Amino acid sequence: MTAAAGFDILVNNAGILNRVSLLAPESDFDTAMQVMVAGPLDLIRLGLPHWRGTGWGRIVNLSSDRGSFAAGLEGSGAYGVAKAAPNALTKALTKATPHDLPPGVKVNAMCPGRVTTRMGGDAAPRSPEKGAETALWLALLPEDGPTGGVFRDGRPLDW
Ligand SMILES: NC(=O)c1ccc[n+]([C@@H]2O[C@H](COP(=O)([O-])OP(=O)(O)OC[C@H]3O[C@@H](n4cnc5c(N)ncnc54)[C@H](OP(=O)(O)O)[C@@H]3O)[C@@H](O)[C@H]2O)c1
Repeated sequence: MTAAAGFDILVNNAGILNRVSLLAPESDFDTAMQVMVAGPLDLIRLGLPHWRGTGWGRIVNLSSDRGSFAAGLEGSGAYGVAKAAPNALTKALTKATPHDLPPGVKVNAMCPGRVTTRMGGDAAPRSPEKGAETALWLALLPEDGPTGGVFRDGRPLDW
């Protein structure tokens, strides 16, 4: 697909979680930042020509309460830092700049809660379907929906 063909909705879902100390030589910090911050920003840049053409778009950045200062930044290794960044990125993208998003493009971040995926493990308390509910809501927001926020279960999340 070329950038000109475009996409209306972007869900930046990719994530990795390793428990290697940030200070260890084998830390995956660079990869974590690439997958969960730089890659999402690249995709947002890629979507811009289409969104500028149509004036409509929805961006959902997968975050985590493990990257929340309010919750103590509990994410292990690089994960907490790499999950704090999408919240900041989301907020920053709603500030007016010469290269800003069209007003019809809403960008929000969300935490799915702990879900039974490869990352969350079998003991996680909620299903992937439940975790995806907020992503779907944000991906299909009406015109009067929020932008620049961080949500879980459809409600603003302290971050
Ligand atoms: N599970 C939880 O409890 C939980 C809680 C809070 C937040 N989250 C967030 O929710 C999102 C989804 O996580 P998940 O639970 O579904 O984790 P997962 O089961 O480990 O899946 C991770 C996904 O990220 C993709 N991915 C990883 N590295 C990639 C790369 N370099 N390039 C492209 N894709 C890559 C994987 O693709 P492949 O399948 O091709 O490897 C996979 O689709 C993540 O951002 C995660 O941080 C999850």
